[in-house]
Amino acid sequence: MNFQFSETQQMIRETARQFAREELAKSVIERDEKEEFPYESIRKMGELGFMGMMVPELYGGAGLDTMSYVIALEEIGMVDASACVIMSVNNSLVCWGLDAHGTEDQKQRYLIDLASGRKLGAFALSEPEAGSDATNQRTTARRDGDFYVINGTKNFITNGSNADVVLVIAATDKAKGTKGISAFIVEKGMPGFAVAKKEKKMGIRSSDTVSLAFEDCRVPVVNRIGEEGLGIKFALKTLDGGRIGIATQGLAIAEASLEAAIKYSHERKAFDRPIAELQAMQFKLAEMATSIEAARYLIFNAACMKDRKEPFGAAAAMAKLFASKIAVQCALESVQIHGGYGYMREYHVERFLRDSKITEIYEGTSEIQRIVISRALLQ
Ligand code: CAA
Repeated sequence: MNFQFSETQQMIRETARQFAREELAKSVIERDEKEEFPYESIRKMGELGFMGMMVPELYGGAGLDTMSYVIALEEIGMVDASACVIMSVNNSLVCWGLDAHGTEDQKQRYLIDLASGRKLGAFALSEPEAGSDATNQRTTARRDGDFYVINGTKNFITNGSNADVVLVIAATDKAKGTKGISAFIVEKGMPGFAVAKKEKKMGIRSSDTVSLAFEDCRVPVVNRIGEEGLGIKFALKTLDGGRIGIATQGLAIAEASLEAAIKYSHERKAFDRPIAELQAMQFKLAEMATSIEAARYLIFNAACMKDRKEPFGAAAAMAKLFASKIAVQCALESVQIHGGYGYMREYHVERFLRDSKITEIYEGTSEIQRIVISRALLQ
């Protein structure tokens, strides 16, 4: 397979790299420390076309393919994993879903603002009792004339407190099981919709993660995405694409960990020479670089399959399973290479380690990815 970048893709990489290293890098440690959302940077990412990369220009997006999106996301994630997940959720879980399944009216009312970065989106599937077991939805949406009345709680929602628009999954007919679940567009400010608890997290601390509460929240029927009963299929299909984004976040953290380790091993001297000359360090770097290369090919493969409109769910799950694992491994090794300094908060690598762990958890744990992969093998 040929993964040579086009001229446009090379330009996207350069633009994203420059933005990440000049804009995001300057206060990334401080934002993490203060758990501060990067409002200004996200606004600028919208202006650069990074918030709706796969959406047609007609609907406010950049009209690019998944590969281009992955290329930009990787550069952002190497510097700031929080900005990376904010971008990934808006692109893969919100804009992609609306573009693929929204009505023309929904695209006009919501997608244009979301894809251009003027507004931010969130995706509300998870609940206190529906994490890996996503079909176990307790949130209900009862039809009442031209409205649905939503009641329930969503949790661990990325972008939740800053989102203008939330795609909400809820049970419309419990008796129908997985075929009785639907998807809705809920706007900030709709009566009965409130942001609840803000989580205090181990990593990706400048992204916001909250619970959302729905109490008799009336949502117009025209805000239902697709037919009634197709909500779980919509959510799981959307998550297939989301997993390419999180795999890329894992890859980016692994690469940043390697980059920092190489730099440090040239600078740091022990036993009268740079530690880069010690075979113990060289072998660690070689292992990290090899796993990063393998993760990149799995991600590019999944992205290309998606762009060719082939079934790509298992390929995305493989990419996420592997990239998230090596993100944690590379971050750990980088801390080890940095020795005591790696444990200190003024160095970036302790943040890489904290940020890496979530890639094995959200948008489907590693255990869920193994289920998705093995089901594809055995069907
Ligand atoms: N695309 C479309 N439809 C799909 C699908 C897919 N990838 N996977 C399953 N479906 C369909 C099935 O065909 C089935 O349809 P029918 O009822 O018509 O037969 C329906 O969806 C239910 O699927 P299953 O019967 O396979 O359901 P299951 O209970 O066995 O669960 C699962 C499947 C793979 C475990 C799924 O529940 C899953 O992926 N869980 C993890 C959920 C997850 O990733 N959550 C992340 C939360 S979002 C997040 O983290 C975002 C963030 O903020 C960063």
